Amino acid sequence: MAAYELIDHEYDVVVVGAGGSGLRAALGAAQQGLKVACVTKVFPTRSHTVAAQGGISASLGNMGEDSWQWHMYDTVKGSDWLGDQDAIEYLVRNAPKAVYELEHWGVPFSRTEEGKIYQRAFGGMTRNFGEGPVQRTCAAADRTGHAILHTLYGQSVRREVKFFVEYFALDLIMQDGACTGVTALQLDTGQMHQFRAKMVVLATGGYGRAYFSATSAHTCTGDGNAMVLRAGLPLQDMEFVQFHPTGIYGAGCLITEGARGEGGYLTNSEGERFMERYAPTVKDLAPRDMVSRSMTIEIREGRGVGPNKDHIFLHLDHLDPKILHQRLPGISESAKIFAGVDVTKEPIPVLPTVHYNMGGIPTNYHGEVLTLRDGNPDSVVPGLMAVGEAACVSVHGANRLGSNSLTDLVVFGRAVGLRCGEVVDKASAVPSASKAQTDEHLARLDRFRNASGSTPTAKLRLEMQRAMQSDAAVFRTGKTLDEGVQKLRSIDAAGSDIKTTDRGLIWNTDLIETLEYDNLIAQALVTIEGAANRTESRGAHAREDFPDRDDVNWMKHTLAWKRPGEGVQIDYRPVHKYTMSKDIEYIEPKARVY
Ligand code: FUM
Repeated sequence: MAAYELIDHEYDVVVVGAGGSGLRAALGAAQQGLKVACVTKVFPTRSHTVAAQGGISASLGNMGEDSWQWHMYDTVKGSDWLGDQDAIEYLVRNAPKAVYELEHWGVPFSRTEEGKIYQRAFGGMTRNFGEGPVQRTCAAADRTGHAILHTLYGQSVRREVKFFVEYFALDLIMQDGACTGVTALQLDTGQMHQFRAKMVVLATGGYGRAYFSATSAHTCTGDGNAMVLRAGLPLQDMEFVQFHPTGIYGAGCLITEGARGEGGYLTNSEGERFMERYAPTVKDLAPRDMVSRSMTIEIREGRGVGPNKDHIFLHLDHLDPKILHQRLPGISESAKIFAGVDVTKEPIPVLPTVHYNMGGIPTNYHGEVLTLRDGNPDSVVPGLMAVGEAACVSVHGANRLGSNSLTDLVVFGRAVGLRCGEVVDKASAVPSASKAQTDEHLARLDRFRNASGSTPTAKLRLEMQRAMQSDAAVFRTGKTLDEGVQKLRSIDAAGSDIKTTDRGLIWNTDLIETLEYDNLIAQALVTIEGAANRTESRGAHAREDFPDRDDVNWMKHTLAWKRPGEGVQIDYRPVHKYTMSKDIEYIEPKARVY
């Protein structure tokens, strides 16, 4: 192995990732008087949160009556009873506070006539425990994530968070079961760094790019999730992958659910508003898993639109152009650029597209990472926290409601900051790092840097993405999943013949894409093996061979381990069937009718 020098840093808290959750966590820890670093592979305001469009849910009640209890009910029902109800209570009770905090920090929310924060309708968000749609999603036009991300970055700089921009995190430094830091490659210089810390917070986002067509940025490779697997820790509920109903056909770009929240609707080749048949009460504002399945059924049964009858139309052409201009300017532009459609005159061609990972790193509602140890499924991993899409708190369970993600980022980012204030001792010494361990991290990097096989990374990545797209899709069967497992295992094995061509270290995108691919393939495997293992249908996991939810055998979280060179191992954690406080009772499972 080449000799690599490690530049050493020490902090109280090191946050990996600078999207909404990473920035909110970093800022929160800095508010506690801690010395905080944020290590990020892209410039903070280019993180994928910037692409969040429709809004952030909170029961402010600005557009009519609302309550956190209704929001909680909707989130539990949306999760198909896989969400942990203590964490869900924490989310919805803290949501209004978190939104007002953003407002006071400068997020330019859209406004009502009276000057209040504007709120729109979103899928699965209802009034009075399911009676009909409620306007709960706070919006900054259709660029809410952009507005939040820029505001949080400004606030983090103000709080003197130290940013390490365009650093690619390699691996977690673990000692005796505790995390004591993280190693990283500085992309522009090729220098290696070790960040020793009393607390490492993973805020590295989802892994949408394991699929061929995703609304996620190309940077969404779940690097933190993969580091957790390599550290011998489990990921949770990875089989639950959300398809957003309205990705632009062919391009995959997101058309916000806010479009339907503002009155848009879907039609099939007969011009029928088919969602009326599938969800008579909330229609086009049903949760995403249901809308995506309904669209897929319409296409399968020959009622898709276009020459190949392989997509669906989203209509906004009946809406007032002034409203489109004011509330949906971003998607109007995306539709023009990516589909050649003038939304004031024509429908947008759309198709369900991979959008979000409900699964991730198991945590409690303080953001502390959990593992199964000595029979305890809620055993805290010292020194390690996770937040945002990388984490599985689990508030989204088997299916996330649209606009609950931005809420998750800021509520649990704030919770992480508060917890750091409680558990990180400012006066204690920063732990040391084991050289044997960091040498292993560097050896992995060196192996890929000098990989001289015959299979380019791009070929393996494409095979993985195609296998995931066809075999771990909106609808799944034992047959397709088993085929997918075999395909992905052989793609994984073919990694021993991987080939990189750039041997340099400065801006070596060949190497970075290979490290990202290696991260993705591990997550693809735990996803598809978890899906093959779960013989029921729940939320986004729709098995045609097991069409019913099975609460007796499957109301439990999947835990999946994949250590380097080993196969996937599966175990379980119980769902938290209790609430956080005595203010609300556990919401009993029932049929999910909308
Ligand atoms: O449709 C959207 O605007 C996406 C929102 C979300 O995923 O929460």
